[in-house]
This record gives sequence, structure tokens and C-alpha cells, in this order.
Amino acid sequence: MDHLAGVAQFKLGMRALAGAVSLVTCSHAGHRYGMTATAVCSAAAEPPTVLACINRSTTTNRAIAKSGVFCVNVLRHEDRELPGLFSGTHKGEGRFRQGEWTRLWSGSPVLSSALVSFDCRVANRLQHGTHSVFLGEVMALHLGRKGKALLYADGQYAKLASLAHGEPLPEGLDYWGE
Ligand SMILES: Cc1cc2nc3c(=O)[nH]c(=O)nc-3n(C[C@H](O)[C@H](O)[C@H](O)COP(=O)(O)O)c2cc1C
Repeated sequence: MDHLAGVAQFKLGMRALAGAVSLVTCSHAGHRYGMTATAVCSAAAEPPTVLACINRSTTTNRAIAKSGVFCVNVLRHEDRELPGLFSGTHKGEGRFRQGEWTRLWSGSPVLSSALVSFDCRVANRLQHGTHSVFLGEVMALHLGRKGKALLYADGQYAKLASLAHGEPLPEGLDYWGE
């Protein structure tokens, strides 16, 4: 069956879908890889699972497929310089010249200044058209720095602004441990 919507029309429509900006990273055979991604979301709570849609033509995709691990680093608006670096001409190691990087369970690069980092093992992978859909079971998690999320919508970066106070956390639980 023919596509009802054209690719250009689809991309135009997708500009309206605001997304949190993450850096999806991976370490394979002693080399670090990472790229900017907005196609990331929660996939299941039990077991804790995230979903990341990664273009099959990227070097990061190949590294994730080979290593079977990846880390999702959710960015704060203060780190708005990083998405350009992680989608620009430098590949692999060259992208890690900015930011403070550490590691958790999988060895994938973990950005210390991220809002949160989800360190995952690939539990499942679906190939669909240009992209791989990776389901990552969260093996370790780093609650990073307090701050506002960096968003991407209509081709530009934005900072999350609340319209009202969010739901309070349950008694005794403090997200940032303060
Ligand atoms: C704001 C933004 C969001 C992006 N989201 C995705 C995404 O969700 N999935 C994807 O495959 N590429 C996405 N990209 C494109 C990749 O970051 C880009 O192709 C990157 O250079 C791939 O790196 P690599 O080939 O070195 O692995 C996005 C780029 C930007 C600027």
C-alpha cells in the first residue's frame, strides 16, 4: 500500500511535536559514541524500560547494536550547546570534548550535568524503515543536576516553563536528594 502522507509532509507535521532533548551514548571496543535524540520516551515501568528511535545510518546505531548497551542523558537547558556538537560534523570521540563525562553500569558515557541518565541494556530491537527502535532495560540510573529540561520544537531549542506546580513527590522522597 502507498503511503498516505509524504515524507516532507510528515517532517513538517513532526515539527509541532515538542520533545525533550537527550544525548544517547554508547561505548564499544574502547571508543565512545553519542548523538542528539528527541525520539526517546518511557516504554514500561516494570521492568523499567526506555525506548529510543535511532537512524540506522548513524555511527551510534552501529555501536549500540554491537555492544548491546546505551545510555540516555536527558539535557538541562544550560547544556544547549551540546546538541549541536552531538549532531554536527565531528563523530565519535570528537563529540566528548565538552561536558563532564563519567560511567555507570554499562560503561556508556554518562553526562554529570544531565537531569537524569538512564543506563540500559538492549532488551529488544525493532527495525522499521530508516530507524531502529531500541528498547533499553534500565540497569542503572543517575539522578543528576536540578534544572529545567531542554526542549526542541518547530526547529528551535526552548526551555521548559511550568504553567502550574507539578504533583508533589511522595513523602520522604526527594528527586534530587536535597
Ligand atoms: C534536536 C535534534 C534531535 C534529533 N533526534 C534524533 C533522533 O531522535 N533519532 C535520530 O536517529 N537522530 C536524531 N537526530 C539526528 C542525529 O543527532 C544526527 O544524525 C547525528 O549526527 C548522528 O550521529 P552519528 O552518525 O555520529 O551517530 C536529531 C538531531 C537534532 C539536532
